[in-house]
Amino acid sequence: MRFITISVAAATVLLLSGLSGSDAAIASTCDTTKCVFPACVCPSEKPPKGMDPKTVPQFFTLTFDDAIQAATVPVASALMSQHRNPNGCPMKATWFAQTLYSDYALIQQWYAAGNEVADHTMNHIGTPPVEEIVGNRKAINAFSGIPFAKMTGFRAPFLNYSKSTFDILAQEKIQYDSSVNAIPTDAYWPYTLDNGVANDCWNGICAQPIVSPGLWEIPMHAITNSDQPTAKVISMDPQLEGTGEVVGGWLKNNFNRHYNGNRQPFGIYLHPVHVGQSVQMFNDFFKWAAAQPDVWFVTNQQLLEWMKNPVPASQLAAQDYMKCNIPAVGKEICNGMDDTKAGAIDSKVLETCNFASGPWSTCYGCPKTIPTPADPVPERVVAAGQASYRTPVPANCAMEWWDPVAAQCLCTSSNCTFTDVSQIKPTTTSTGTTSPTGNPNKNNAGQLTGSLATLSAIAAVAAGIAQLL
Ligand SMILES: *[C@@H]1O[C@H](CO)[C@@H](O)[C@H](O)[C@H]1NC(C)=O
Ligand SMILES: *[C@@H]1O[C@H](CO)[C@@H](O)[C@H](O)[C@H]1NC(C)=O
Ligand SMILES: [Zn+2]
Repeated sequence: MRFITISVAAATVLLLSGLSGSDAAIASTCDTTKCVFPACVCPSEKPPKGMDPKTVPQFFTLTFDDAIQAATVPVASALMSQHRNPNGCPMKATWFAQTLYSDYALIQQWYAAGNEVADHTMNHIGTPPVEEIVGNRKAINAFSGIPFAKMTGFRAPFLNYSKSTFDILAQEKIQYDSSVNAIPTDAYWPYTLDNGVANDCWNGICAQPIVSPGLWEIPMHAITNSDQPTAKVISMDPQLEGTGEVVGGWLKNNFNRHYNGNRQPFGIYLHPVHVGQSVQMFNDFFKWAAAQPDVWFVTNQQLLEWMKNPVPASQLAAQDYMKCNIPAVGKEICNGMDDTKAGAIDSKVLETCNFASGPWSTCYGCPKTIPTPADPVPERVVAAGQASYRTPVPANCAMEWWDPVAAQCLCTSSNCTFTDVSQIKPTTTSTGTTSPTGNPNKNNAGQLTGSLATLSAIAAVAAGIAQLL
């Protein structure tokens, strides 16, 4: 019998569970003669294809949850702007974004800077109905310009999921889920759900007949406060569980368990609104981790690219998915980037849309009503054919090259130019503020109840995003 504390947003849940052997039993039902790599991957604490852990990269994933907006993006940039991979590319992260209280232009900018946007439902609903999951993708595609093919992940709000959640993800052809917790006794590398879930067995999910061939699970590796079997297990926001010095020690200890063991991906999973005064503690830890050989900061999508075709750490820098080439467009178009390098993203081309829940910006034309699960892409205020219509990104142009004002694709050939960002010197100072401005009220889900998104706030935030390049 052991006690597990799982922190989900601001809520700390005390769980009582007898874990002895049950997760191992689930993992063993996966028959490696039937589950054949790379289409099917059994839950395993070992790296894929029998690779020696000492030769594989130590992946490090940083994820953020909830709204992408003027108060939260500077927190992310303060945590990321100082860190680089061994190939010189800047640290990238995955954001599980909800649309409620998000600014669609900031979602676009986060993505355009090379980061990942994943699905966290529109309104932050646990065990969500299909419309919450699908609507999130549709609204972000329409008002942030991100192609559906680039939004491949999902995390359940409150980490509250059921069998139906996995059924929806499979039906909607989502590539991966990352909602389950891995603890030291079930610390699996990413696996496919051909044989169901093998983590969080205490809640009954492992006994559910989930058969989702090819749908990946990227477990969230919890932080423990000791190596004892009675250790407290912290799923998200470890900084809330102790002083900086104490938590910083836990992080190093947990990282070392991965690094000196089977090199399972290591993760830090944060709600920006809860980071508070812990920016320095995390930066010190990231810097310490990055100083060890073969440590790579990756998005979940990059991690899965590696899982599907694993290479030794010595070959990782040569993989296309680890490079950081930014399109060199040269004209200030509304594409989430500072195309003219004038220090402002999408200056004078963003539009602000005013709604009761707060204003937000977009490159793709304000809708008449706020996007909802029932109507995620409402009619635009300015209809097609009218002057000042913003033309959506067409299928034959990438968002980065599309000028929605002129309705023109600035990349018409295969020889469009790119800038290799790994060659650009990192900036040492941050113009982004390190904590949310104002004093946003939070509800107990860790949500901001009002958006601070004004155009000037967006401009200040955009300067911080430009630093992530
Ligand atoms: C999970 O979400 C469902 C549906 O929103 C809700 O009814 C249930 O109470 C939630 N469970 C927990 C433990 O929060
Ligand atoms: C390369 O770009 C130039 C200038 O935009 C264009 O004239 C040329 O046709 C392109 N070449 C190919 C092979 O697309
Ligand atoms: Zn959330």
